[in-house]
Amino acid sequence: MNAKGSNGGRLALVERFFEGTGPSYDFMVNAATLGIDRLWKRRLVDLIPPNPARVLDLACGTGISTLAIAKRHPGCELVGVELRSEYLELARAKLRRHARGNIELVLGRAEDYRSEQPFDCITSSYLAKYAELPLLCRNAHAMLRPNGVFLAHDFTYPPKAYLVRIWRLYFGILQHAGSRLFPSWREIYFGLPELIEQSPWVDDLQRALEQAGFVDIRRDDLTLYGSAIVSARKPDAPTEAPIRDSGSLAEDQAHHL
Ligand SMILES: C[S@@+](CC[C@H](N)C(=O)[O-])C[C@H]1O[C@@H](n2cnc3c(N)ncnc32)[C@H](O)[C@@H]1O
Repeated sequence: MNAKGSNGGRLALVERFFEGTGPSYDFMVNAATLGIDRLWKRRLVDLIPPNPARVLDLACGTGISTLAIAKRHPGCELVGVELRSEYLELARAKLRRHARGNIELVLGRAEDYRSEQPFDCITSSYLAKYAELPLLCRNAHAMLRPNGVFLAHDFTYPPKAYLVRIWRLYFGILQHAGSRLFPSWREIYFGLPELIEQSPWVDDLQRALEQAGFVDIRRDDLTLYGSAIVSARKPDAPTEAPIRDSGSLAEDQAHHL
C-alpha cells in the first residue's frame, strides 16, 4: 500500500479506510490511542502562535481539533476543510453544539483549498500521510501571513526494534479484538500499520516545506515515537530566505515523551 501514488489512488484509499466510520470516529480515535490523541491535539494547539486572527484546520474530520482550537481561541476566525461529507456533517453538528464564533466548514481536498484572506496558522492532524505534500506546502505558504506557522501532526513508524515490537503488538490487538467489535474499522486496523510503515511523510514534508520557502522547519517526536508534529514558519520578509540544505534539517529534531 502506498499513499504516495496518484491523486485518485490517495482518494480511493481515504474512502476505503473511512467509509462508514464517521459515527464511531470520536470514540475510536480516543479509545484506540488510549486517550493519547487528546494529548497530541493539545500539543498541536499549544504550538499555534498567540492570539491568532485566522486559523485553517485541514482534514478537520469530525471537528475534534477544530473545536479544540475554537475553545482555546474564541475570538479567532476558523476554517475547517474536509474531504468527506460524512465527517464534515458531524463536524458541523458538533461545532454548532459546542462552539461559538466564526467557523466556516468547507468540503474539499486540503491541497486544493485557497483563500484570499491570509491565515496566522495552518494545522492538520492525520492528513500528511495521505496528502500531495508539494502542492499542500506551496498553497499553505501562499495563504499564510509573514511569520505564519504551519503545523502537521501524524503517526510515525518507531525507529527502534523494541518500540516496533510494542507497536506491532498494539496493532495486533486492534486487528484481532477491535475488528470483531467494530467491523467498519477493519480496513483501517489492517491497512494503517502498513501505510505508516511505508510512509516517508516526515522527510517528504520537511523537503516540501523547504522547497516552498518555509524556514525554522522542525520535527517533534511524540509518545514512544508513535507520532510527530512537523512545524515550520513562513519567513517575515522575502529576504529572509531559507539558508539550509536538507541535511541540516536533522539538527532541528526534538523529542517529547
Ligand atoms: C484520521 S481522520 C483525522 C480527522 C481529524 N483531523 C482528527 O484529527 O480528528 C483523517 C481525515 O483526513 C481526511 N482527509 C484525507 N485526505 C484528505 C485530503 N487530501 N483533503 C482533505 N481531507 C482529507 C479524511 O477524510 C479523514 O476525515
